Amino acid sequence: MKKLFILTSLAGLALVLANCSGSRKLAAAPKLNYETSLKAVVATECAPCHIPEKGGKKKPYDSYASIKTDIDEIIRRIELNPNDRGFMPFRKTAKLSDSTIALFKQWRADGLLEK
Ligand code: HEC
Repeated sequence: MKKLFILTSLAGLALVLANCSGSRKLAAAPKLNYETSLKAVVATECAPCHIPEKGGKKKPYDSYASIKTDIDEIIRRIELNPNDRGFMPFRKTAKLSDSTIALFKQWRADGLLEK
């Protein structure tokens, strides 16, 4: 009797676990990548200064490699406040929107994918 009870409990537990991982897979959002999610944002928000094509003379951020390498510093600077030293985008009076800042952080969390 005791054995049966343990067996049924284990089967129940297995069912619950199987369901959990199933729903987690369904809920997971697709991972962000540079080509689709970051490139256009940087080209808009960090131009002209960091986009050589637009006449930018600062460190170029027009490629996947440069954004990937500097992502920690980029996130640090866009999270500063406009009066802080080092704040980006330089000389703007407002920070990027929360959702734009979140995009950079999510991209890093997702593993810095190119496409
Ligand atoms: C109006 C021009 C301008 C814009 C727009 C601008 N920057 Fe900058 N950026 C600068 C200047 C000038 C420097 C050099 C001075 C400094 O380091 O603070 C710089 C430096 C940086 C650095 C340090 C680079 C290094 O040499 O290590 C980072 C990172 C950076 N910017 C990120 C950004 C990001 C991300 C954006 C867009 C969200 C942005 N910047 C928008 C002018 C700009």
